[in-house]
Amino acid sequence: MATPPCIEAGRNRFPDPAAAPPFPARPAEQSERGALAEILHDHLQPLLIAAQLTLAGNGREAPDARTWRRMSGKINQYLQAAIDTTRTLSVELNPPLVQERGLCAALRWHGRRMARTHGIRVGVTCDPAAEPANLEIRLLCFKAVRELLLNAVKHAGVSRVEIDVALDGADTLLITVADRGRGFVPDRAGAYPAAHGGSGLAGIRQRLRLIGGSLTVDSAPGRGTSVSLRVPL
Ligand SMILES: Nc1ncnc2c1ncn2[C@@H]1O[C@H](COP(=O)(O)OP(=O)(O)OP(=O)(O)O)[C@@H](O)[C@H]1O
Ligand SMILES: [Mg+2]
Repeated sequence: MATPPCIEAGRNRFPDPAAAPPFPARPAEQSERGALAEILHDHLQPLLIAAQLTLAGNGREAPDARTWRRMSGKINQYLQAAIDTTRTLSVELNPPLVQERGLCAALRWHGRRMARTHGIRVGVTCDPAAEPANLEIRLLCFKAVRELLLNAVKHAGVSRVEIDVALDGADTLLITVADRGRGFVPDRAGAYPAAHGGSGLAGIRQRLRLIGGSLTVDSAPGRGTSVSLRVPL
């Protein structure tokens, strides 16, 4: 297994246990498995190794009371940061609100969180009749919208985004995420600029196709972006 970057041999650079949990600032949807592997390798593992090295650092001799207090305080900090990371991870992978209170409540909660973390206001309009009964569908929709909000933060240059959750006919869920920002020229399939390597929109489209749904993008430079997700209920 490769050595985590902050414990490279000879450098002895320990992680900062007070550093922010890694997930919120990263692309949320397109490579969940890759993001998970990276967090385990680059954030969680270094914290655990730092705790282990701190414990081993004193050699074989029993430390005096003062040294032990310092060591145990440090070890406790590393372990607490590791616990916080696992908590963040499990909430991000399977947000409990989606299961307990449904898609719309979870989107409102996430909107408030985006306001705090990214300074963007998120308006959420929901038709209660459109709430998916199936938990997997709810999770898929939640994660897709999370990526679209992140796109608005990264690419649109706006301070406000609107989410609309409604029914399109009797058995199709229609979710629209719209901003009035920079906009872009979608490719022929109506998704992302052809030359671009990003995989967020493509990943959502692929996941929706697997369940018979679709993603469409309405965007133009200077005229904002509206992304619609259609999901069979
Ligand atoms: N709301 C938006 N406003 C302006 N441009 C957008 C918006 N959403 C997407 N784009 C454009 O579409 C491209 C593709 O988006 P996509 O989510 O697929 O990739 P990304 O966000 O660049 O990277 P990744 O999601 O893989 O981290 C973006 O790079 C950007 O040029
Ligand atoms: Mg993206």
